[in-house]
Amino acid sequence: MGIILPVQSHEPLYKQVRNAIEQAIRDGQFAQCPLPSSRALADELSISRNTVNLAYQEMLSEGLIVSEERVGYRANTAILSSSPGHAQEKNPPEPNTVDWRRHLQTQAQAPLPEIQKDYDWQAYPYPFIYGQVPSSSFPTTAWNRALRTSMEYPHVHWSLRDGGSSDDPLLVEQLRTNVLASRGIRAAPEEILVTLGAQNGLFLAARSLLGPGDRAVVENPGYPDIAHILAATKARVTPIEVDRDGLCVGDIPRTTKLIAVTPSHHFPTNVGLSEERRGLLLQAASDNDSLILEDDYDSELRYTGRAAPALRAVDRERVIYVGSFSKFLAPGLRIGYVVAAPELIERMRHERRYSVRHAPGQIQRALALMIETGDYQRVLRRYRLSLRDKWEAMNSALRFIIGRDFLPSTGGTSVWVPLPDHVRADAVVLEAAKRGVLVESGAPCFTAEHPDRQRFLRVGYAAIPIEAILPGLRVLADVIHDERKQTKR
Ligand SMILES: Cc1ncc(COP(=O)(O)O)c(C=O)c1O
Repeated sequence: MGIILPVQSHEPLYKQVRNAIEQAIRDGQFAQCPLPSSRALADELSISRNTVNLAYQEMLSEGLIVSEERVGYRANTAILSSSPGHAQEKNPPEPNTVDWRRHLQTQAQAPLPEIQKDYDWQAYPYPFIYGQVPSSSFPTTAWNRALRTSMEYPHVHWSLRDGGSSDDPLLVEQLRTNVLASRGIRAAPEEILVTLGAQNGLFLAARSLLGPGDRAVVENPGYPDIAHILAATKARVTPIEVDRDGLCVGDIPRTTKLIAVTPSHHFPTNVGLSEERRGLLLQAASDNDSLILEDDYDSELRYTGRAAPALRAVDRERVIYVGSFSKFLAPGLRIGYVVAAPELIERMRHERRYSVRHAPGQIQRALALMIETGDYQRVLRRYRLSLRDKWEAMNSALRFIIGRDFLPSTGGTSVWVPLPDHVRADAVVLEAAKRGVLVESGAPCFTAEHPDRQRFLRVGYAAIPIEAILPGLRVLADVIHDERKQTKR
């Protein structure tokens, strides 16, 4: 949370809390999101709620914070920024002896758009946030059982050993036989690498394949992090438009070395790459001697129709398949995997050795046990059903409330919502947050100069309780309506 109490102080505790909150506000931590609830802050600091309430009351009476219905407290940034000397008197800046600009390397990807997430999303009554899983939907009992077994003979060895650059053989086996098979993928153990989430897999693939001047293609709109990852290798990154059939494959330059795609559910629109485009993409890769980086981050979350097989299931040579357990277990576990040709896997393993060695042994073993016992499949089925209910609730409510034809999706955990003309996504996000609704702007998913940057919202539904969907979307619709009225004035 970033509110830190001094190690030693003679001031009363509530004053220390008050000063720490004020400092955090001045550091800009609460410019976009509400302050933590008194209960959350008291838990975090291991102090009583009364002490936190006293601190909040004092700040409220001085106008440093304001109280908002259904949101809680917010920083009154207008007052704080109008008294710049105030903080300096209390906390004189430390002398700066190191010129960090001289030491830090320039980042090739620095100017690219970035997703800014409000990780304090639980503070909102209507958290339509993408990519977060509420702890209440995590299969705690099954996971605890697997963790316990992972500490018993013979598993404890695999949980605690230093694996060097190798992976847990039981997890590799379970991935091969129980997870990848459902995507139509056949893989030998030497074609599989366990990673710290899909992100780590994308990073290792990019590092192993690209160098300065190589051309790589990303989707536009697309997952902003992949553009960062590819650009960090000093490759030339070419964004290619996406339409209702997915990536516009015909626009891919012939000189491309690596094509990064999300074919099952395009990020962020959720459209699937059409049958025809899939064929064209595989053909183009073969004709141009390109490789395809298939980011299949949430393929298990499909609620209607039959899933197309992974591209990797069709082309075992040119497709590098990246999967993850973040979306249907929890992102905090940081487990993903890559399936690719043995030559590439060996190189990625070598790269991984010098950064993280391997994913934590106990997490690998517990996950393997959970899949082996069938718990994982049971949990996944249940989770998929609950997400399907939310997906239906989202679709029918959005159709009714927003009344616009948004892109059809077959699954995923978010809906890509178009805004009326002249209404800006960033403005809607800010105003919605004030009214307790957390949604994300589509802007960072586009290149900086794209004309549609401000035209979409990404509305996630994995974290929000189903009963909050309709009232939350109603508030969102009001916000959009109000913004529209303002633009007409
Ligand atoms: C499209 C896409 N790819 C990759 C990732 C990274 O996932 P992980 O948490 O497994 O690293 C995400 C996470 O949100 C994502 O949305």
